[in-house]
Amino acid sequence: MDKSRYPMVEEVVSIGFNREIGKDTFLMGFPCVALTSRAKPGQFLMIQVDRQAKDPLLRRPFSIHGVLDSNRLMILYKVVGKGTALLSALREGDTISAIGPLGNGFTLPGPGERALLVAGGMGIAPLFFLTQVLTRAQNHSVKMFLGFPTSQDVVLIDQLKGLGVDLSLTTEDGSLGIKGLVTDLWDQTLSQESTQKPVTYACGPASMLKEIAQKAIARNLRCYVCLEGYMGCGLGICQGCAAKAAGSKDKPYYYVCQDGPVFSAEMIDWEVM
Ligand SMILES: Cc1cc2nc3c(=O)[nH]c(=O)nc-3n(C[C@H](O)[C@H](O)[C@H](O)COP(=O)(O)OP(=O)(O)OC[C@H]3O[C@@H](n4cnc5c(N)ncnc54)[C@H](O)[C@@H]3O)c2cc1C
Ligand code: FES
Repeated sequence: MDKSRYPMVEEVVSIGFNREIGKDTFLMGFPCVALTSRAKPGQFLMIQVDRQAKDPLLRRPFSIHGVLDSNRLMILYKVVGKGTALLSALREGDTISAIGPLGNGFTLPGPGERALLVAGGMGIAPLFFLTQVLTRAQNHSVKMFLGFPTSQDVVLIDQLKGLGVDLSLTTEDGSLGIKGLVTDLWDQTLSQESTQKPVTYACGPASMLKEIAQKAIARNLRCYVCLEGYMGCGLGICQGCAAKAAGSKDKPYYYVCQDGPVFSAEMIDWEVM
């Protein structure tokens, strides 16, 4: 791995807060000056959940969710298994080890370019940081399509509105916001766009990313997807995060941890995904 490309550090950090903000969904924040000063939206951390335990042995990847007061980072995570369950049990003052920031991060839109963000479930994790940067530092207006299965899963609405985001919320069962899928709402908005060509940033389940990528390619629109597949090491060693590259004989696969996790839509072979 070319470490000079992405200067990473390992920090043992003391947890500042770790609270449940939605069904099985936790927001954790910790001070870490070295990591925060290097972090870009779309990058991720490899977190060692329990520094003494042999199980889970491997670090777990989490997107950098946002920055607080320029010296604290946040992660947003859903409890799905052993590692995230252990993480959710940690309290203020407990420590974790974080390696990062890893990966490439999002390419920001050009001046005056309209950004459409599409988040499915925990896909909101990296897109929140992108929103922070676009609205605060870059002074861009952001339109976001945010989708969850049910109202119980919905998080961060007030925080996003606080950043001035033009937000469209969907739930699959219609219990909050518009009933349906974010992809449909994003697609309808694109159909209504006049001459402006927006750039789309998407993160969520693979099926959602595939649909968005294929439609953006068909419309000849710039689109960046943030892939969140399985990762063994996060450092380009285990080759466990391969994603089939589209039309590249020289490089048949990308490694999501090294070459991504953010890819331009046309880089990935979506038929194989
Ligand atoms: C670059 C990157 C960024 C990520 N960012 C976030 C984030 O910000 N917030 C967040 O909640 N999660 C994120 N994830 C997913 C997160 O890493 C996994 O949910 C976590 O590793 C699960 O660990 P566990 O020990 O709790 O579950 P495990 O015991 O390892 O697995 C429990 C169950 O979850 C499934 N699972 C595990 N990992 C994934 C995955 N990546 N995709 C789909 N299913 C999975 C397993 O198949 C199994 O059924 C990210 C993944 C990547 C690669
Ligand atoms: S996770 Fe090991 S090479 Fe990418």
